[in-house]
Amino acid sequence: MKTIIEPFKIKMVERIRMTSREERVPIIREAHFNPFLIRSEDVLLDFLTDSGTSSMSDRQWSALISGDEAYAGSRSYFDFERKVREITGFEHVLPTHQGRASERILFSVAAKAGDIIPNNTHFDTTRANIEHAGASALDLMPAEGLDPDLDAPFKGNMDLGKLEELLEREGHRIPLGMITVTNNASGGQPVSMENIRAVSSLLRSRNIPFFIDACRFAENAYFIQQREAGYQDRSLLSIAQEMFSYADGCTMSAKKDAFANIGGFLAMNNASWAEKAGTLLVLTEGFPTYGGLAGRDLAAIAQGLEEILDQDYMAYRIRSTGYLGEHLRTIGVPIFWPPGGHAIYINARKFLPHIPVDQYPGQALVVEMYLEAGIRAVEVGSVMFGRTDPGTGKLIPARNDLVRMAIPRRVYTQSHIDYVIEAMENLASRKESIRGIRFVKESPVLRHFTSWFEPV
Ligand code: F0G
Repeated sequence: MKTIIEPFKIKMVERIRMTSREERVPIIREAHFNPFLIRSEDVLLDFLTDSGTSSMSDRQWSALISGDEAYAGSRSYFDFERKVREITGFEHVLPTHQGRASERILFSVAAKAGDIIPNNTHFDTTRANIEHAGASALDLMPAEGLDPDLDAPFKGNMDLGKLEELLEREGHRIPLGMITVTNNASGGQPVSMENIRAVSSLLRSRNIPFFIDACRFAENAYFIQQREAGYQDRSLLSIAQEMFSYADGCTMSAKKDAFANIGGFLAMNNASWAEKAGTLLVLTEGFPTYGGLAGRDLAAIAQGLEEILDQDYMAYRIRSTGYLGEHLRTIGVPIFWPPGGHAIYINARKFLPHIPVDQYPGQALVVEMYLEAGIRAVEVGSVMFGRTDPGTGKLIPARNDLVRMAIPRRVYTQSHIDYVIEAMENLASRKESIRGIRFVKESPVLRHFTSWFEPV
């Protein structure tokens, strides 16, 4: 069969409140043309993030009911620990309330002022936690990974030449190196096993520990299986195990590739770091056998980690993201190519060339997608990463002006996606009419979350 179906049936549904364009006009105006300020009830299809927005399975819901809520020594913790160890091989497993808590604890233990932490591309919270520890977060991307149009199988890879040069020059300032799979901040692109292995051997040759930001490890394992020679006949579990075998630890947000609505973990082999991390865990997250989560959350995560490595699920997952990306490209909506694992990134600067960069083509597009069809997406461009030059007062734009549509796991069906494609086709046919956007009230930090805008 050519048609890949959703490998699940729906046994519980959540109503979507339909809205008309007339209703959405005042809603977006009241939200100051910032989709983050729209109530979710007023959104038809929500692609703001794939984080914490997954549908849990019947087995995960059953696991919730049988969770062990003991303060110490919970059975649900030991099930969770066994599952994390089976996949990652790491000895010490600390549950946290989400990915960024793992990052904060890791960098509090391992990094200090003046240190440098390299990554393929740091996610914003990772960067923020490193900078909070006084260290610098460095992205080491090859040119091919930054080109939005180039077709290549592993555009998430780290630049090995840049890493080698950095190690040569600044090796003594690097307490650990990281790699993010898949590379969310660079188009959701995968990292090859070859690249993981090479990064690991460069770091290990200098006794520098290597950590994986594992949020979307299973999606990355699937890309390796499909695209890298020698992995076609391997199970997703064995590929994931091999990925982790090259590392000394990982940070994980269970809100992504564990189908959970909350949760995460920090896992590692280094006993002395793990002990210090455990102390910090008790301070702010909780006792080491629950770490900021309920026993039922740990049970749902353990079950989710089992389900994420299902071949049928992952074939459907990556195909359905690809389906959206390929159709958008066919109807003339340029996207960061090839489609990523968890999200499609529309190249708004290229799609709306009549809108100057200082009128935020990405923000203009997210507003228009909401008005057109009640679709919520997020600008990943000069609103999020641009800065105002203090001298000239002019915008220093981001490298790209993209719009991310992150796809929640097991939530939307193909007809929802067909609706998006139709909406984007309508938008493309009248794109010259879309106007730019300007700031009305600019928040000093993380300005995409709370700033107010208006059409130019
Ligand atoms: N690392 C990566 C690669 C991520 O994508 C995220 C979260 C985190 C770490 C932090 O995890 O949210 O559980 O604290 N990404 C979400 C997103 C928020 O929308 O991409 P968290």
